[in-house]
Amino acid sequence: MSIPERKIEMAELGVLFATSEIAPLIKTGGLADVSGALPAALREIGVDVRVLVPGYSQVIEQLAEPQVVANLDDLPGFPMARLLSVTMANDVPLLVLDCPVLYQREGGPYQSPEGQDWSDNAMRFGLLSKVAAVLGSGATPLDWHPDLVHCNDWQTGLAPAYLHFAPDGAPSLIAIHNLAFQGNFPPEAVQLLHLPPSSFGIEGLEFYGKMSFLKSGLFYADHITTVSPNYAAEIQHEALGFGMQGLLSKRRDSLTGILNGIDTEEWNPASDPYLAKPYSSANITGKAANKKALQHKLALDIEPDVPLLGVISRFTEQKGLDALLEIVPLLCELPVQLAMLGSGDPDMQNAARELAHRFPGRIGLHIGFSEELSHQIEAGADMFVMPSRFEPCGLNQLYSQRYGTPPIVHATGGLADSVVDCTAASLADGTASGFVFNGMTAVNLYATILRSIDAYHDRHKWDTLCANCMRKDFSWETSAKAYRAVYMKVLGR
Ligand code: ADP
Ligand code: GLC
Repeated sequence: MSIPERKIEMAELGVLFATSEIAPLIKTGGLADVSGALPAALREIGVDVRVLVPGYSQVIEQLAEPQVVANLDDLPGFPMARLLSVTMANDVPLLVLDCPVLYQREGGPYQSPEGQDWSDNAMRFGLLSKVAAVLGSGATPLDWHPDLVHCNDWQTGLAPAYLHFAPDGAPSLIAIHNLAFQGNFPPEAVQLLHLPPSSFGIEGLEFYGKMSFLKSGLFYADHITTVSPNYAAEIQHEALGFGMQGLLSKRRDSLTGILNGIDTEEWNPASDPYLAKPYSSANITGKAANKKALQHKLALDIEPDVPLLGVISRFTEQKGLDALLEIVPLLCELPVQLAMLGSGDPDMQNAARELAHRFPGRIGLHIGFSEELSHQIEAGADMFVMPSRFEPCGLNQLYSQRYGTPPIVHATGGLADSVVDCTAASLADGTASGFVFNGMTAVNLYATILRSIDAYHDRHKWDTLCANCMRKDFSWETSAKAYRAVYMKVLGR
């Protein structure tokens, strides 16, 4: 059985990249962006990466002429499944785990259309983990043998356990994209998913009486990565460790923080098809046309000189949206305009709707998911607001810098690693790229927005800041090299 692929000459190593979402096929958040871009960047530097993803309806519908490369009908305790193979537009080989009874249904990857977690998630992601482990062991039905299995988040967290208990399992790595999501299930899941009973203990995948997919990954993987150096340090302590801090600090020598990159083709203001007018750092004047188009689209007053704040976010506590909503009436008096895109917590959605109703022409709101509008906000807004309480990496502050839209961020996780606060000194040395505040409160957020507005009205300062933002290099190449170095270290090469 062969898999179509672009030949990687003398590939040093082969890596199976197991993930529960991948852009552009299926996306709920940043993990999809990473899965869509990092494997391609790794292939560019000679790593033979192939991606494994579940065959959700949305994925299956978009596959062009998939080949069946394996039948997986003898995995004890699991329903029958098949592996389909295609090559993505960026040349990355994709293995799709086709199991209609688990994955083909109306709704999202993790939840029903009503927002409830699927009741069979343990089985759904147990199978994904199991298949990743099979492909990383001698039992694989393929003629390709990865040297290492790269897992992502809890949905693939059991793969390191299955590999550990397989006689010839490849080494594994787990990348934490968000420690808050852990995949904790009743202990019966251990038997259901055919894991050895001995694995259910403190030295194993037990987490406060539950069986935890994420704890399994953190315990059994040979190495742990997370998506920024600062978050790697933060999660070793109680405040942001979500109960895993003990294990993580014990394993700190096997824990590496690597800042995410961005897809600089997809997020390029000079060639972005969604923009009213393309622009670049050499000719940033085009940004004004995008502001006007965004104001028009979201029924905001057409006012070129009123600062326009952009927000693209899941509406959750994590993202600090509650604090932002709290100060909206004050912001509207300044005046400031707000372009908001997102969805999530029903109470926050309602609060946002009420504010949009109360301040017509000042608040533009779109509840839902829109790739197109997200690009238009990055380009059309003057500043981008991201007051996350915690943020493993965060991608929108990277996109906004590339689009010359300085971000306003809380100093946490990857936000602190990727945005340099605007001060006299950082402006002078050319590093200033946004506004960073400590202490996530509505008051501090408000004060920082005021500070950004002061800078906005100083044309020279603002132009310098935007130019600094656009000069920064967040391409995947650096991160891909860091991942390759970790793979080599794990393999002792
Ligand atoms: P997280 O994964 O925690 O939600 P990230 O900043 O890493 O946060 O990534 C979020 C990704 O999802 C970004 O690509 C962002 O543009 C996108 N996104 C979030 N909400 C929406 C939305 N409502 N519409 C379109 N894109 C969205
Ligand atoms: C998670 C995190 C986010 C990160 C993304 C991709 O969703 O919340 O901070 O950027 O994963 O790694």
